[in-house]
Amino acid sequence: MNVKMRESAMESQAKSNGKVIVVTGTPGVGKTSISRRLAEVLNALHIDLSSFVIERGLYMKYDEEAESYVIDEERVIEELRKVIEERELVIVDSHYGEIIPEDYVTLVVVLRIDPVELWNRLIKRGWRKAKVRENVEAELLSICTINAMEAYGENKVFEVDTTGKEVSEVLNEVLRIIRGEGISGHRIDWLNIKNLSELEEVIRVLSEVN
Ligand SMILES: Nc1ncnc2c1ncn2[C@@H]1O[C@H](COP(=O)(O)OP(=O)(O)OP(=O)(O)O)[C@@H](O)[C@H]1O
Ligand SMILES: [Mg+2]
Repeated sequence: MNVKMRESAMESQAKSNGKVIVVTGTPGVGKTSISRRLAEVLNALHIDLSSFVIERGLYMKYDEEAESYVIDEERVIEELRKVIEERELVIVDSHYGEIIPEDYVTLVVVLRIDPVELWNRLIKRGWRKAKVRENVEAELLSICTINAMEAYGENKVFEVDTTGKEVSEVLNEVLRIIRGEGISGHRIDWLNIKNLSELEEVIRVLSEVN
């Protein structure tokens, strides 16, 4: 078997084994709200990875500065494998979607949101402005999409713009993608979508935060 054939055999094997749909995106974009509904509709298991890590103690420490847990990757992967092996279909909802072993992943949905709407939502959540800024910048720069494409390849990654949409509308878009009606790849780039004065306004607001 030449290298190309082997690669393509491995690809189809990966596809047939894949039983995890990863829902990723910047914090606050709506991953948990959407994943919960999606799991109901598909009769799948929903794993909210942050809760999974905390409930099972799969972290090394709590990083005070970053205000987040430093996860123990090896143990997280080991525990995930056990749970995934037992189920037909699993929705993993995580900002840190790249942790799921590639052979399990059938597709990755990256929820996107206009950075201005995200700003308002995270401020409403009562987050510190510096933390809000960090996440709005990540959304502006498409960090989650880029990470997902690096980990799983462009063909498995699908973006959904959630801006101004109800949970049910976003859910319908995700279901269309699962039916094979979506277009993969990096399509939502706020730096291109927004005009110059809108971008200047976003940058002005962000730069006011120390
Ligand atoms: N489509 C939507 N329209 C309006 N509000 C939404 C939508 N989806 C989620 N929200 C609201 O936004 C907030 C964040 O949603 P959610 O907890 O689902 O996000 P998340 O991506 O899981 O966040 P985290 O990364 O912190 O876990 C919640 O208050 C939720 O009610
Ligand atoms: Mg969540």
